[in-house]
Amino acid sequence: MQAALDPYTPGSGKPPQALVGRDNDIDALDALIVRAARGLGPARPILLTGLRGVGKTVLLNAMMDRAAAEKWFTVKIEASRGKAGAVRARRAIAAGLVRASMAYRARSAVAAVGRMLATVSSFSVSVGADSFSLGVERDPVRASTGSLDLDLQDVVADVSGVLEQERVAFVILVDEMQDLDGELLSALITTQHEASQRDWNFYVIGAGLPSLPGKLATAKSYAERMFLVRRIGRLNEAESRRVLVEPAERMGASFEEPALTHLVNISGRYPYFLQEFGSAIWRISPRSPFTGADARRAEAVGLAQLDAMFFAARWERVTPAEREYLGAMAEEVDDSPTSTAIAARLNRSAQSLGPARANLINKGLIYAPQRGRIAFTVPGFGQYIARQMAQEQG
Ligand SMILES: Nc1ncnc2c1ncn2[C@@H]1O[C@H](COP(=O)(O)OP(=O)(O)O)[C@@H](O)[C@H]1O
Ligand SMILES: [Mg+2]
Repeated sequence: MQAALDPYTPGSGKPPQALVGRDNDIDALDALIVRAARGLGPARPILLTGLRGVGKTVLLNAMMDRAAAEKWFTVKIEASRGKAGAVRARRAIAAGLVRASMAYRARSAVAAVGRMLATVSSFSVSVGADSFSLGVERDPVRASTGSLDLDLQDVVADVSGVLEQERVAFVILVDEMQDLDGELLSALITTQHEASQRDWNFYVIGAGLPSLPGKLATAKSYAERMFLVRRIGRLNEAESRRVLVEPAERMGASFEEPALTHLVNISGRYPYFLQEFGSAIWRISPRSPFTGADARRAEAVGLAQLDAMFFAARWERVTPAEREYLGAMAEEVDDSPTSTAIAARLNRSAQSLGPARANLINKGLIYAPQRGRIAFTVPGFGQYIARQMAQEQG
């Protein structure tokens, strides 16, 4: 088929033609919208957690679009690790606040808007992002302590105070939330906690790896219970078929049953893999309907693409000691082996492997699903490593 017409969307955060299997998650957001519209108090904020490639970013963006369509005050940031990441996240919040405030000022007649703008302006200065001028004086007392959690609370109090009259809410969406620095993470949690006690219509909606709820609990012991945690995972059989069929149908193409069954099976029903195999069969097939033979050729092409795009970059980022650790994990039958089992396999003490384990967690390649256990954050990474090691040894 013509590559230019490929309707599949493999890639990080690329919105799929058909957002399949996430209706319940969208409903969770809609419930918040309804509460705000009816002037009921706020409900629990939402966390989306799951492995890489399951569709958290796409879902978070869909939630943001929905909230924005309801005229919610929305700010979205993507967290990243390290000092630079911490600076970037603060600036992104400030910039997002200014952008949302401008949009709000343009369409609102509420008298209190001036005060809100002055507070936002102060907050920007307080986090070192004073270049975003709102053209208003900053409030000398609001959001100007220089202490992030207090200043954030001032902003949220003043913004949600204004929004309340319009029956909308203020939401900060945080992607890759597990990478947020401790100070900002704590500030967001404390502010969310304060909001629920004061009935402010304010929500933090986060997306991140399965380690995220644990991270929150470490930052503040009460944090995990504050959020509605929605685990985003693989799709079921029927949903997986729709991911393949619907985009093709829109282009007037279709699958023969053996082709569909084969691609659903080899994708493990992971959204990203489905998109990659969908794209592969589209590109290599001379015509539609796609046949079982097309699907087998697409398997090879799709796998090569996955190896190159999804796995290789991650494998190349690890040190020899970390590779050894990952290799031992890949040999385990259990999806989440104990650290002790890995150590035994390598003939080492669990303690001596501590640094490699910690670095891999830090790099976001593995996480601890339970105390003392370890698992890959990337689906299929174990098999990839096994293939890689066999190649290197052979
Ligand atoms: N619900 C879905 N239905 C179909 N495709 C999806 C769905 N969610 C995500 N995708 C596809 O999966 C891939 C990964 O999505 P992304 O949101 O980046 O995952 P994550 O943020 O969890 O790593 C993208 O190619 C996207 O188009
Ligand atoms: Mg993502």
